Amino acid sequence: MYDSVLGLHSYWAYATLGLLLIATLNAFGGLSSKRVFTPKDRQISMIALIFSHIQLLLGFVLYFVSPYFETAKQAGMGAVMKDSTLRLYLVEHPLINIIAIALITIGWSKHKKTEDNQAKFKKIGYMYAIALVLLLSRIPWSAWFN
Ligand code: HEM
Repeated sequence: MYDSVLGLHSYWAYATLGLLLIATLNAFGGLSSKRVFTPKDRQISMIALIFSHIQLLLGFVLYFVSPYFETAKQAGMGAVMKDSTLRLYLVEHPLINIIAIALITIGWSKHKKTEDNQAKFKKIGYMYAIALVLLLSRIPWSAWFN
C-alpha cells in the first residue's frame, strides 16, 4: 500500500507541476496579448486544478501510511520539529502544499466571478504562480530524483 501510494504521489507530481506551469504561462500569455478568455483557457486551468486536488488527496493518504508518520507517533512532535527531514515531510511539505492548493482553488473560483477577460487571466495567473513557487519550495528534491 505504502509503495504504491508513494509511487503514485511521486509520478503524479510531474503531471501536476507541469500542468500548473502550463496553466500559469497560458494565463500570463493571455494577459500580455490582451486576448479573450476562451473555453480552452478555462479547460487548461481546470485540468491543473483537478490534478492538484488529486495530488492533495494522494498526499493525505501517503501521510498516514508513511514510515515518517509512525516515527512521529513514537518520537513525538517535539522530536519531529528538531529533525529537519521529519519536519519537511510531516509539517512543512503538507502545510505549505495545502496552502498552495487553497490558493489555486481561490484563483479558480475568483476567475468565475468576473466577466472581464483580463481579470480572469490575472486571477488564475497570479494565484497559480504563487502556488507553484510555494510547491517548488517544499519538494523533497533529493528523495524525488533518487
Ligand atoms: C501538489 C502538491 C504536492 C506535490 C507536488 C507533492 C510532491 C511530492 C514529492 C515529489 C514527494 C517525493 C516522492 C518521492 O520520494 O519519490 C512527496 C513526498 C511526500 N508527500 Fe507530497 N506533494 C504534494 C502534496 C502533499 C500533501 C498535501 C501531503 C500531506 C497531506 C503530502 C505528503 C507527502 C509525504 C508524507 C511524503 C513522503 C512520503 C515518504 O517518503 O514516506 N504531499 N510529495
